Amino acid sequence: MRTAIYPGSFDPVTLGHYDIIERTAKMFDRVIIGVLNNKVKSPLFSVEERVTMLKEVTAKLPNVEVQSFGGLLIDFVRQSGGGIIVRGLRAITDFEYELQMAQTNRVMAPEVDTIFLTTNLKYSYLSSSIVKEIAENRGDISEFLHPAIVKKVRGKVEEMFK
Ligand code: PNS
Repeated sequence: MRTAIYPGSFDPVTLGHYDIIERTAKMFDRVIIGVLNNKVKSPLFSVEERVTMLKEVTAKLPNVEVQSFGGLLIDFVRQSGGGIIVRGLRAITDFEYELQMAQTNRVMAPEVDTIFLTTNLKYSYLSSSIVKEIAENRGDISEFLHPAIVKKVRGKVEEMFK
């Protein structure tokens, strides 16, 4: 059984993330999306909310599971029984950070490999941070997110500015 782990913050999940998830699900028997329970950064959505949103958008993909994790990614990968980490690469600007993470993870866990999928060109500019910035300024985010997620982001922004 070939298992891949797709880790990230997913605050919130974008159509760019979804594209990577769908393509990974075609290549592996089992895909586990690992949602980082980030103690340092303060995310817009709690880890539980991010897990729920990912479960909602991936409901139609039978071999995809969503879990949260804290601590080191390689420990989560080992506990999950996976040997492959999948990350999306948008542009050269992602490369340095991604290479550093992949190399560090490989030194710590030589049995774990990282593979990269180039993002769909359509979403190559997209990031959760940009989407949040547009939403906070009341811009239209419907091009970037699943319709159910658009509603949740708008709701969260309304709550923040109440
Ligand atoms: O979506 P992101 O925020 O770019 O994802 C980053 C993520 C979650 C993959 C990375 O921060 C991570 O793996 N964090 C867990 C802590 C860890 O293992 N750090 C060492 C990596 S070299």
